[in-house]
Amino acid sequence: MTDQHESDGLVTEVRDLWQGRDVLNFANEAVKAMSAGTATDWGLAAAIESPIPPVTLGGGIPDPATLPREDLSEAAARALGVEDDGPLRYGGAMGLERLRAQLAERYTRDRGLPVDASHFILENGSAGALDAVCAALLDAGDVVITEAPTFSGTLRTFRGKGAEIVSVGMDNDGMRTDEVGELADRLAAEGKTIKFIYTISNFHNPMGTTMSLSRRQELLRIAARHSAFVLDDDAYGEIHFGEAPPPALSALAGGYGVITVGTFSKIIATGLRVGWVHARPEIIEVVARMRFDMGNSAMLHHTLAEYIDGGRLDDHLEEMRLLYAEKMDILASALTEFAEPYLTFTRPKGGFFLWLKLQKGLTAEAVQRAAVQEGVIFPIGRAFFPEQKESDGEHIRLAYSWTSKDDLREGAERLARACARAAEGE
Ligand SMILES: Cc1ncc(COP(=O)(O)O)c(C=O)c1O
Repeated sequence: MTDQHESDGLVTEVRDLWQGRDVLNFANEAVKAMSAGTATDWGLAAAIESPIPPVTLGGGIPDPATLPREDLSEAAARALGVEDDGPLRYGGAMGLERLRAQLAERYTRDRGLPVDASHFILENGSAGALDAVCAALLDAGDVVITEAPTFSGTLRTFRGKGAEIVSVGMDNDGMRTDEVGELADRLAAEGKTIKFIYTISNFHNPMGTTMSLSRRQELLRIAARHSAFVLDDDAYGEIHFGEAPPPALSALAGGYGVITVGTFSKIIATGLRVGWVHARPEIIEVVARMRFDMGNSAMLHHTLAEYIDGGRLDDHLEEMRLLYAEKMDILASALTEFAEPYLTFTRPKGGFFLWLKLQKGLTAEAVQRAAVQEGVIFPIGRAFFPEQKESDGEHIRLAYSWTSKDDLREGAERLARACARAAEGE
């Protein structure tokens, strides 16, 4: 490539000055403290080269066949086919009021706590929502109590803001609130500020579990006592296979002290990048104060509002629930058939993930290495633990949402072969 400005010598002069400098030296302290990696840092082997085309059981992404392409493109056409410039103008800090009102209507209907548009601000996915909440409320040095394991993307957000992360364990009823209570008392005695207690209350990533009603109640009491917000990351709550999860934390608390983030990523498409913060209006106003980017895409907000008004979202959700229940069943049954001696798991009642515990002394790293050779790819469990301790080396997470039904079965067979190889010490 030749540069048309090269001849005047300026390019050479400037390039010579810049080329020897390491950009990392210019990065701020938050970036320097952050390990290299992707936004989610999901524990894949660094060099992934399978000898055969691999089956990927990696990301929590909707099945490509479910993407409502036609409905969305018709909605986009309707959104653009208006006289005024609304959809093509800056949308404003809060995001489209019509879409926020639609969200409020759905939350009121589904969660039993009456809310309106002022309880929502639209953000760049729920990852963007978490970032916005942290930008507005988290000071460097504040403590965030998280579950262990938890979604590694959010850990990066907390770390990027200089928070101290302290974690508690999980079991089949979700976050261990007995541990939260003890920990919060100890941290308070040390004079620390606990800003958030972060939970993925429904169909947890990576564990697939849902917090029980009594734990929800206990968590709300502890958090309120310590003036800590419960930060509820509800990316998967609508993808239930049978019963809906217990009442939402925000509804149980009458809205007080709870900040919920939600997203269209898992129920419609990740590429939309539309999510939201849901909280009492006075909190939403605080979050909005740190918004300097003129809002997200008004065009997409109008498109989603048209899509929802088209009345297809509930049917779409119902189809998604049935499909993911079937896919979970295919993967779980195939694992039982092919790989049972090497692993155990609990069937999730919703969401996108199966959390496997390896048996027979197998380590996740060894199984992952062998799995790459066998042609199946997934993250190891350790990546989801805030401290990434050695003792966390016996879990792997499989996502069944994106992968085709045939590949799910094939993936389970390959994983079983990988376990056998790892058990033989290959
Ligand atoms: C628990 C959880 N929260 C947040 C996100 C971020 O999703 P998005 O920003 O696409 O809404 C994910 C994505 O995997 C997730 O699993």
